[in-house]
Amino acid sequence: MTTDLQLAPLGLDNFRFIRDLLQREAAIVIESGKEYLVETRLARVATRNGYASVNALIEQMRFGTGIHPNLISETVDALTTNETLFFRDANPFDALRDQIIPEFCAKRPGATLNIWSAASSTGQEAYSIAMLLAEHFPNLSTRIVGTDLSPTVIARARAGLYQQIEVNRGLPAKLLIKYFRQDGTNWQIADSIRQRVEFREMNLIRPWPVLPSCHVVLIRNVMIYFDIETRRQILRQLRQVLAPGGYLGLGGAETTVTVDPAFVPVPVGRATFYQL
Ligand SMILES: C[S@@+](CC[C@H](N)C(=O)[O-])C[C@H]1O[C@@H](n2cnc3c(N)ncnc32)[C@H](O)[C@@H]1O
Repeated sequence: MTTDLQLAPLGLDNFRFIRDLLQREAAIVIESGKEYLVETRLARVATRNGYASVNALIEQMRFGTGIHPNLISETVDALTTNETLFFRDANPFDALRDQIIPEFCAKRPGATLNIWSAASSTGQEAYSIAMLLAEHFPNLSTRIVGTDLSPTVIARARAGLYQQIEVNRGLPAKLLIKYFRQDGTNWQIADSIRQRVEFREMNLIRPWPVLPSCHVVLIRNVMIYFDIETRRQILRQLRQVLAPGGYLGLGGAETTVTVDPAFVPVPVGRATFYQL
Protein backbone atom coordinates (compact mmCIF):
# COMPACT_ATOMS: atom_id res chain seq x y z
CA MET A 1 0.00 0.00 0.00
CA THR A 2 1.41 3.38 -1.02
CA THR A 3 1.33 6.00 1.69
CA ASP A 4 3.29 8.92 0.21
CA LEU A 5 1.19 10.46 -2.47
CA GLN A 6 3.08 12.03 -5.38
CA LEU A 7 1.79 15.52 -5.91
CA ALA A 8 1.68 16.40 -9.59
CA PRO A 9 -0.77 18.65 -11.43
CA LEU A 10 -3.81 16.83 -12.73
CA GLY A 11 -3.48 16.06 -16.44
CA LEU A 12 -6.08 17.75 -18.64
CA ASP A 13 -7.41 14.46 -20.00
CA ASN A 14 -7.63 13.07 -16.48
CA PHE A 15 -9.60 16.11 -15.36
CA ARG A 16 -11.95 15.76 -18.33
CA PHE A 17 -12.46 12.07 -17.55
CA ILE A 18 -13.46 12.89 -13.95
CA ARG A 19 -15.68 15.77 -15.08
CA ASP A 20 -17.54 13.44 -17.48
CA LEU A 21 -17.74 10.63 -14.92
CA LEU A 22 -19.28 12.90 -12.31
CA GLN A 23 -21.75 14.32 -14.79
CA ARG A 24 -22.77 10.84 -15.96
CA GLU A 25 -23.01 9.23 -12.50
CA ALA A 26 -24.40 12.09 -10.40
CA ALA A 27 -25.33 14.93 -12.82
CA ILE A 28 -22.89 17.14 -10.94
CA VAL A 29 -21.21 19.73 -13.15
CA ILE A 30 -17.59 20.62 -12.34
CA GLU A 31 -16.25 23.54 -14.24
CA SER A 32 -12.73 24.04 -15.59
CA GLY A 33 -10.64 25.77 -12.99
CA LYS A 34 -11.78 23.31 -10.31
CA GLU A 35 -8.86 20.93 -10.89
CA TYR A 36 -7.59 21.62 -7.36
CA LEU A 37 -10.90 20.38 -5.97
CA VAL A 38 -10.56 17.07 -7.81
CA GLU A 39 -6.94 16.74 -6.71
CA THR A 40 -7.62 17.35 -3.04
CA ARG A 41 -10.78 15.26 -2.85
CA LEU A 42 -9.31 12.30 -4.69
CA ALA A 43 -6.01 12.28 -2.79
CA ARG A 44 -7.56 10.20 -0.01
CA VAL A 45 -9.17 7.75 -2.46
CA ALA A 46 -5.79 7.30 -4.19
CA THR A 47 -3.96 6.70 -0.91
CA ARG A 48 -6.63 4.33 0.43
CA ASN A 49 -6.51 2.24 -2.74
CA GLY A 50 -2.72 2.15 -3.00
CA TYR A 51 -2.15 4.48 -5.98
CA ALA A 52 0.99 6.61 -6.10
CA SER A 53 -0.89 9.70 -7.26
CA VAL A 54 -4.32 11.01 -8.19
CA ASN A 55 -3.24 10.83 -11.85
CA ALA A 56 -2.40 7.12 -11.38
CA LEU A 57 -5.83 6.49 -9.81
CA ILE A 58 -7.62 8.20 -12.69
CA GLU A 59 -5.50 6.47 -15.32
CA GLN A 60 -6.40 3.14 -13.79
CA MET A 61 -10.08 4.04 -14.21
CA ARG A 62 -9.46 5.25 -17.75
CA PHE A 63 -7.31 2.45 -19.09
CA GLY A 64 -7.24 -0.37 -16.53
CA THR A 65 -9.16 -3.59 -16.95
CA GLY A 66 -11.33 -5.28 -14.35
CA ILE A 67 -11.80 -2.13 -12.29
CA HIS A 68 -13.69 -2.74 -9.11
CA PRO A 69 -17.03 -0.90 -9.39
CA ASN A 70 -16.43 0.40 -5.87
CA LEU A 71 -13.56 2.49 -7.19
CA ILE A 72 -15.95 4.45 -9.38
CA SER A 73 -18.53 4.89 -6.63
CA GLU A 74 -15.82 5.80 -4.09
CA THR A 75 -14.55 8.41 -6.55
CA VAL A 76 -18.00 9.89 -7.13
CA ASP A 77 -18.71 9.81 -3.40
CA ALA A 78 -15.47 11.69 -2.64
CA LEU A 79 -16.35 14.39 -5.16
CA THR A 80 -19.74 15.27 -3.68
CA THR A 81 -20.03 18.42 -1.59
CA ASN A 82 -21.69 17.45 1.67
CA GLU A 83 -21.82 20.81 3.43
CA THR A 84 -24.86 20.98 5.73
CA LEU A 85 -25.87 22.08 9.20
CA PHE A 86 -28.66 21.81 11.72
CA PHE A 87 -31.62 24.14 11.05
CA ARG A 88 -29.87 25.51 7.95
CA ASP A 89 -31.32 28.91 6.97
CA ALA A 90 -33.79 28.79 9.95
CA ASN A 91 -36.77 30.36 8.09
CA PRO A 92 -38.05 27.17 6.43
CA PHE A 93 -38.06 25.44 9.84
CA ASP A 94 -40.00 28.34 11.39
CA ALA A 95 -42.46 28.10 8.49
CA LEU A 96 -42.92 24.38 9.12
CA ARG A 97 -43.49 24.94 12.83
CA ASP A 98 -45.76 27.98 12.58
CA GLN A 99 -47.79 27.38 9.42
CA ILE A 100 -47.22 24.29 7.33
CA ILE A 101 -47.55 21.62 10.02
CA PRO A 102 -50.41 23.33 11.93
CA GLU A 103 -52.23 23.65 8.56
CA PHE A 104 -51.68 19.93 7.90
CA CYS A 105 -52.98 19.00 11.38
CA ALA A 106 -56.08 21.15 10.91
CA LYS A 107 -56.88 19.83 7.44
CA ARG A 108 -55.96 16.17 7.97
CA PRO A 109 -56.54 15.31 11.63
CA GLY A 110 -55.15 11.87 12.47
CA ALA A 111 -53.24 11.54 9.15
CA THR A 112 -49.51 10.74 8.92
CA LEU A 113 -47.30 13.61 7.78
CA ASN A 114 -44.74 12.41 5.23
CA ILE A 115 -41.54 14.43 4.85
CA TRP A 116 -38.70 13.74 2.44
CA SER A 117 -35.28 15.28 2.93
CA ALA A 118 -33.71 14.64 -0.48
CA ALA A 119 -29.91 14.95 -0.73
CA SER A 120 -29.88 14.84 3.05
CA SER A 121 -26.09 14.60 3.40
CA THR A 122 -25.10 13.64 6.96
CA GLY A 123 -28.66 13.98 8.25
CA GLN A 124 -28.73 17.35 10.02
CA GLU A 125 -31.75 18.57 8.00
CA ALA A 126 -33.84 15.45 8.63
CA TYR A 127 -32.90 15.37 12.33
CA SER A 128 -33.69 19.09 12.67
CA ILE A 129 -37.21 18.31 11.49
CA ALA A 130 -37.43 15.31 13.81
CA MET A 131 -36.44 17.50 16.78
CA LEU A 132 -38.89 20.21 15.71
CA LEU A 133 -41.67 17.62 15.61
CA ALA A 134 -40.68 16.15 18.99
CA GLU A 135 -40.69 19.63 20.51
CA HIS A 136 -43.85 21.05 18.99
CA PHE A 137 -45.98 18.18 17.63
CA PRO A 138 -45.17 15.23 19.89
CA ASN A 139 -48.39 13.38 19.11
CA LEU A 140 -48.36 13.80 15.34
CA SER A 141 -47.81 10.62 13.34
CA THR A 142 -44.92 11.29 10.95
CA ARG A 143 -42.63 9.55 8.55
CA ILE A 144 -39.35 11.26 7.68
CA VAL A 145 -37.16 9.82 4.95
CA GLY A 146 -33.65 11.12 4.21
CA THR A 147 -31.89 10.09 0.99
CA ASP A 148 -28.53 10.79 -0.58
CA LEU A 149 -26.36 9.45 -3.36
CA SER A 150 -23.33 9.07 -1.10
CA PRO A 151 -23.10 5.85 0.96
CA THR A 152 -20.58 7.56 3.26
CA VAL A 153 -22.94 10.33 4.32
CA ILE A 154 -25.88 7.93 4.60
CA ALA A 155 -23.85 5.76 7.00
CA ARG A 156 -22.99 8.85 9.04
CA ALA A 157 -26.60 10.02 9.06
CA ARG A 158 -27.81 6.62 10.26
CA ALA A 159 -25.23 6.62 13.04
CA GLY A 160 -26.36 10.07 14.22
CA LEU A 161 -22.94 10.76 15.72
CA TYR A 162 -21.67 14.31 15.28
CA GLN A 163 -18.46 16.14 16.03
CA GLN A 164 -18.37 19.12 18.36
CA ILE A 165 -17.92 21.49 15.41
CA GLU A 166 -21.07 20.08 13.78
CA VAL A 167 -23.30 20.51 16.84
CA ASN A 168 -21.91 24.04 17.24
CA ARG A 169 -23.46 24.95 13.89
CA GLY A 170 -27.16 25.86 13.95
CA LEU A 171 -28.24 23.65 16.83
CA PRO A 172 -29.72 25.55 19.80
CA ALA A 173 -27.97 24.64 23.09
CA LYS A 174 -31.33 23.64 24.56
CA LEU A 175 -31.82 20.96 21.87
CA LEU A 176 -28.21 19.77 22.18
CA ILE A 177 -28.71 19.17 25.90
CA LYS A 178 -32.12 17.58 25.45
CA TYR A 179 -31.52 15.30 22.46
CA PHE A 180 -27.78 14.47 22.44
CA ARG A 181 -25.47 12.49 24.68
CA GLN A 182 -21.74 13.27 24.79
CA ASP A 183 -19.61 10.37 23.61
CA GLY A 184 -15.93 11.26 24.00
CA THR A 185 -15.40 14.25 21.73
CA ASN A 186 -18.58 13.48 19.75
CA TRP A 187 -22.29 13.83 20.34
CA GLN A 188 -24.75 10.98 19.83
CA ILE A 189 -28.31 11.87 18.89
CA ALA A 190 -30.99 10.29 21.07
CA ASP A 191 -32.60 7.09 19.84
CA SER A 192 -36.01 8.74 20.20
CA ILE A 193 -34.97 11.17 17.40
CA ARG A 194 -32.89 8.71 15.37
CA GLN A 195 -35.78 6.29 15.17
CA ARG A 196 -38.02 8.94 13.64
CA VAL A 197 -35.88 9.13 10.49
CA GLU A 198 -35.17 6.50 7.89
CA PHE A 199 -32.09 7.03 5.68
CA ARG A 200 -31.60 5.41 2.28
CA GLU A 201 -29.18 5.68 -0.60
CA MET A 202 -30.80 7.21 -3.64
CA ASN A 203 -29.40 8.85 -6.75
CA LEU A 204 -31.78 11.55 -7.97
CA ILE A 205 -30.82 10.93 -11.60
CA ARG A 206 -31.50 7.20 -11.54
CA PRO A 207 -35.01 5.68 -11.50
CA TRP A 208 -36.67 6.61 -8.21
CA PRO A 209 -37.85 3.93 -5.79
CA VAL A 210 -41.47 4.01 -4.70
CA LEU A 211 -41.79 6.91 -2.30
CA PRO A 212 -44.79 7.78 -0.15
CA SER A 213 -46.83 10.75 -1.29
CA CYS A 214 -45.03 13.58 0.55
CA HIS A 215 -46.60 16.61 2.21
CA VAL A 216 -43.21 18.29 2.49
CA VAL A 217 -40.17 17.74 0.27
CA LEU A 218 -36.92 19.53 1.04
CA ILE A 219 -34.40 19.26 -1.77
CA ARG A 220 -32.02 21.98 -0.83
CA ASN A 221 -28.56 22.96 -2.04
CA VAL A 222 -28.19 20.11 -4.49
CA MET A 223 -29.84 21.29 -7.73
CA ILE A 224 -27.31 24.14 -7.87
CA TYR A 225 -24.80 21.47 -8.96
CA PHE A 226 -27.00 20.24 -11.84
CA ASP A 227 -27.60 21.57 -15.32
CA ILE A 228 -31.03 22.96 -16.22
CA GLU A 229 -32.26 19.83 -18.01
CA THR A 230 -31.48 17.66 -14.96
CA ARG A 231 -33.26 20.15 -12.67
CA ARG A 232 -36.26 20.05 -14.99
CA GLN A 233 -36.38 16.25 -14.94
CA ILE A 234 -36.16 16.14 -11.15
CA LEU A 235 -38.93 18.70 -10.75
CA ARG A 236 -41.07 16.74 -13.22
CA GLN A 237 -40.69 13.64 -11.06
CA LEU A 238 -41.35 15.65 -7.92
CA ARG A 239 -44.76 16.56 -9.30
CA GLN A 240 -45.71 12.90 -8.84
CA VAL A 241 -44.28 12.64 -5.32
CA LEU A 242 -45.65 15.86 -3.83
CA ALA A 243 -49.06 15.32 -2.19
CA PRO A 244 -51.91 17.66 -3.23
CA GLY A 245 -51.37 20.90 -1.32
CA GLY A 246 -47.83 19.76 -0.43
CA TYR A 247 -44.86 22.08 -0.02
CA LEU A 248 -41.52 21.90 -1.80
CA GLY A 249 -38.54 23.65 -0.17
CA LEU A 250 -35.37 24.55 -2.08
CA GLY A 251 -32.07 26.13 -1.07
CA GLY A 252 -31.76 29.91 -0.83
CA ALA A 253 -29.98 30.12 -4.21
CA GLU A 254 -32.44 27.81 -5.98
CA THR A 255 -35.82 28.34 -7.59
CA THR A 256 -38.32 26.50 -9.78
CA VAL A 257 -39.13 29.70 -11.68
CA THR A 258 -37.46 29.48 -15.12
CA VAL A 259 -37.16 25.70 -14.66
CA ASP A 260 -40.68 24.32 -14.17
CA PRO A 261 -43.67 26.70 -14.27
CA ALA A 262 -45.92 24.02 -12.74
CA PHE A 263 -44.50 25.03 -9.35
CA VAL A 264 -45.64 28.33 -7.90
CA PRO A 265 -43.54 30.18 -5.31
CA VAL A 266 -45.51 30.72 -2.10
CA PRO A 267 -44.24 32.89 0.76
CA VAL A 268 -44.68 31.10 4.08
CA GLY A 269 -43.60 33.37 6.93
CA ARG A 270 -40.10 34.51 5.97
CA ALA A 271 -39.44 31.48 3.77
CA THR A 272 -40.42 30.67 0.19
CA PHE A 273 -41.85 27.26 -0.61
CA TYR A 274 -43.23 25.99 -3.93
CA GLN A 275 -46.60 24.40 -4.59
CA LEU A 276 -48.28 22.82 -7.58
C1 LIG B 1 -24.48 20.52 -0.17
S1 LIG B 1 -25.24 19.03 0.36
C2 LIG B 1 -26.83 19.62 0.86
C3 LIG B 1 -27.34 18.94 2.09
C4 LIG B 1 -28.69 19.44 2.62
N1 LIG B 1 -29.74 19.23 1.66
C5 LIG B 1 -28.61 20.89 3.00
O1 LIG B 1 -29.17 21.74 2.30
O2 LIG B 1 -27.98 21.22 4.01
C6 LIG B 1 -25.58 18.24 -1.22
C7 LIG B 1 -25.82 16.75 -1.12
O3 LIG B 1 -26.34 16.30 -2.37
C8 LIG B 1 -25.87 15.00 -2.60
N2 LIG B 1 -26.00 14.70 -4.06
C9 LIG B 1 -25.26 15.18 -5.06
N3 LIG B 1 -25.66 14.67 -6.23
C10 LIG B 1 -26.69 13.84 -5.95
C11 LIG B 1 -27.51 13.00 -6.75
N4 LIG B 1 -27.36 12.91 -8.07
N5 LIG B 1 -28.47 12.27 -6.13
C12 LIG B 1 -28.63 12.36 -4.78
N6 LIG B 1 -27.87 13.12 -3.97
C13 LIG B 1 -26.91 13.86 -4.56
C14 LIG B 1 -24.45 15.02 -2.11
O4 LIG B 1 -23.97 13.73 -1.81
C15 LIG B 1 -24.56 15.92 -0.88
O5 LIG B 1 -24.66 15.19 0.32
